[in-house]
Amino acid sequence: MQEALQQLRAEALARIEGAATLDALDAARAAYVGRSGAVKGLMQRMAEVPADQRKATGQLANEVKTAIEGALAVRRAAIERAQAPVAGPRVDITEPGTRPRLGHEHPVRRTEMELREIFARLGFECVEGPEVELEYYNFDALNIPSDHPAHDSFATFYVGGDVLLRSHTSPVQVRVMEQRRPPLRVVVPGRVYRPDTADATHSPVFHQIEGLAVGEDVTFADLKAVLTLAMRELFGPKTETRFRPSFFPFTEPSAEVDVCCELWGERRWLEILGAGMVHPKVFEAVGYDPERYTGFAFGMGIERIAMLKHGIRDIRLLLENDVRFLEQF
Ligand code: PHE
Repeated sequence: MQEALQQLRAEALARIEGAATLDALDAARAAYVGRSGAVKGLMQRMAEVPADQRKATGQLANEVKTAIEGALAVRRAAIERAQAPVAGPRVDITEPGTRPRLGHEHPVRRTEMELREIFARLGFECVEGPEVELEYYNFDALNIPSDHPAHDSFATFYVGGDVLLRSHTSPVQVRVMEQRRPPLRVVVPGRVYRPDTADATHSPVFHQIEGLAVGEDVTFADLKAVLTLAMRELFGPKTETRFRPSFFPFTEPSAEVDVCCELWGERRWLEILGAGMVHPKVFEAVGYDPERYTGFAFGMGIERIAMLKHGIRDIRLLLENDVRFLEQF
C-alpha cells in the first residue's frame, strides 16, 4: 500500500507539472484528491493493510495528499500568471518615441530678453509695473498735464474714472523713484496700449522697454555712452547712433536716437528710441532734490527692434501668433 501511495504521488506531481490549462489542472485535482480520487480510493482499502502498518500508512497518505494539493496550488498560480492580461498597454521599449512638439520663445520675448541681458551687463536691474495704471502716473507725475499739447501723443484707453491702460512704460519711472532713493539704474519691459488703428507700423498693443538711471552726477554723456554701447551689442559692433534734439515733457533736454542699419540691402538711419535727462518736475513729483540729483531716461519699442533685427516689414505679424510665421524664428 505504501508503495502504491509513493507511486501515486510521483504520477500526480508529474501530471500536475505538465498541466497547461486550468481545466487540465481541475481534472488532475479530481483524479487524485477529489471525493472519488485515487488517494481516497487507496484509503478506503486501509483494512487490507496489516494492523502494525496502518498508522504509518495513514500518515503517508496524508503527506501525499498535502504534497499534491501544494503542487496544484503552485501550478494554478503559474497558469493564472501566464494567462493574466498585462496591466496597461504593452510598451515596446525599443520603439522610437513620439517627440513632443516643442515651442520656442516668441521673437518679441526673445528681443526683450536680449535687451534685458544687455542692460543687466551695464548695471541695470529689471523691474516691472502695472499695465492698468492711474492717470497720475501715466501723465501728471510725468509733467504731462491734461491741457499740455503733448498729452495727445500719449492718448490711451480709459478703464473708467482716472484708471487707464498705460500708453508707455514711463509711469514705472515714477513708481520706482517713489519707492527708492538714488543711486538707481533700472530697465522696465512691458506691454503698453495706444488707440492706434493697426497697420504695418502701428498696433493698439505693443511692448516697450524703459531705462532710468539717477545719481549725483549722471550726465548726458552717460546716456550717450549707455545707448551707444547697447545698440552695438544689439545690432553689431559697427553700429552707429545719432542723437537728434526732440521733445518729451518728462525729459530736458530730450533726444530721439537713430541707428544706422543695413536694412533690406540698404544702409539707412532708423529712429528707434526716445531719451533725455529726467525733468526736474519729475524729480519734484517723487520727492527727489533736483539740485542734488540728475538722471537719464530712455524708452524704446520692442517690436520695432525685433522687426529691424529680423527684417520683418509688418508689426501685425508679430501679434497675430500665426505659427507658420513664428516657426521661422
Ligand atoms: N515714453 C516715451 C514714449 O513712449 C519714450 C521716452 C522714455 C522718452 C523715456 C524719454 C524718456 O514715446
